[in-house]
Amino acid sequence: MPNFHTKEFSEPNYPSTYGKSNFKFVAVSKRGERLVMCSTQDSDMLLKIHKNKNGFLIKGDKITRPSQVAILQQALKDFRDLTNTKTTNSNIESKKERSLKISPYLKSMEYFANEFRTTKEILVEVGFGSGRHLLYQAKKNPNKLVIGLEIHKPSIEQVLKQCELQNIENILVVDYDARTFLEFLQSNSVEKIFVHFPVPWDKKPHRRVISERFIDESKRALKVGGTLELRTDSDNYFEYSFGEFINQQKVELHINKNSDLEVSSKYEDRWKRQEKDIYDITMTNHENSEPIENIGRLKFDKKIDFAKLSSRFEETTLRGDDFFAHIEEIFTINKEEGLIRVSFGASQRNEHSYIYIKKDEVVYMPDNVLATKDNEKAHELIKEYIWNM
Ligand SMILES: C[S@@+](CC[C@H](N)C(=O)[O-])C[C@H]1O[C@@H](n2cnc3c(N)ncnc32)[C@H](O)[C@@H]1O
Repeated sequence: MPNFHTKEFSEPNYPSTYGKSNFKFVAVSKRGERLVMCSTQDSDMLLKIHKNKNGFLIKGDKITRPSQVAILQQALKDFRDLTNTKTTNSNIESKKERSLKISPYLKSMEYFANEFRTTKEILVEVGFGSGRHLLYQAKKNPNKLVIGLEIHKPSIEQVLKQCELQNIENILVVDYDARTFLEFLQSNSVEKIFVHFPVPWDKKPHRRVISERFIDESKRALKVGGTLELRTDSDNYFEYSFGEFINQQKVELHINKNSDLEVSSKYEDRWKRQEKDIYDITMTNHENSEPIENIGRLKFDKKIDFAKLSSRFEETTLRGDDFFAHIEEIFTINKEEGLIRVSFGASQRNEHSYIYIKKDEVVYMPDNVLATKDNEKAHELIKEYIWNM
């Protein structure tokens, strides 16, 4: 990921504008962690200034990092030049300026929550990686819409470039956890969901994509006759998943071993060279489901006194039945303004975010924290905590 190292660094005045970026403020934690709020090409993000024994490391903060690496590179270049910093090591020289524009193929969750409508057949691929199968499906089915979900930013970047180079018009790429994404799709609207070679997570099974809840949600989103296709090289994952699929009602299951698909992904090529077995579980849905309501955004409906909160702040984990909120760290911008870093959600998956607090404004940052069922419950815990401080 883009970053630069420097022996010496001096903080600029805020706000400052340089090149394509606007640097709004610096927020400092009690432990001395420094975050700079930056807006580049309409993308808001935080840059992290990390002091170490050799000087400083400046990079994008993980939580607010934009999906397109080129935008973060530009922000770091502008910050380096604004502060006249001499780098000792850096990887931020972006070669292609044109990829700086927000790709029309990349869609936010906000878009799916509020705007997404289509009359086309929908195919969904979870964790598309190098994108070989995703691009293949899009080209094979020009009249269908192919939605690709991925959380690995370099893979997203690579596929966005391919969509542009190959002039593909029927792909939407989403940088979001697939386990939550399906909640946004209308019931009985999807023809196929592909989950090819998901990470087996043998040591952390709670991180697996396939779970009872994911299968429930897939079944709701699938048309009658629609399919969820799992393909894996892991005996363990196959057995585990089969145990989850077999509990479903009103579905049909098909198991295959070592069958070839029309296109083989990079992972698949590797497993085939190693002569590993490959398993498919295909679930066909036979049930009509109730329609769902649109999902909104989490909101704070009261003001917060930042000075009071800051003087009493302590790191805390709050727990509900199967959800939690971890209030991690507080950052001060000035007496009346600051950030709180939080993680929250279901025990199995969680959101990482900041809460930006100003006199009459309290919002999550980045602003894509959506009111999914788990998030809503955890948000109630957070509100109660900060209002009772
Ligand atoms: C082992 S790779 C397989 C990639 C591709 N399907 C293939 O067959 O080559 C698994 C991919 O799933 C992505 N992934 C893992 N968990 C995910 C999640 N919860 N939501 C979306 N993508 C996820 C990873 O980033 C990774 O790119």
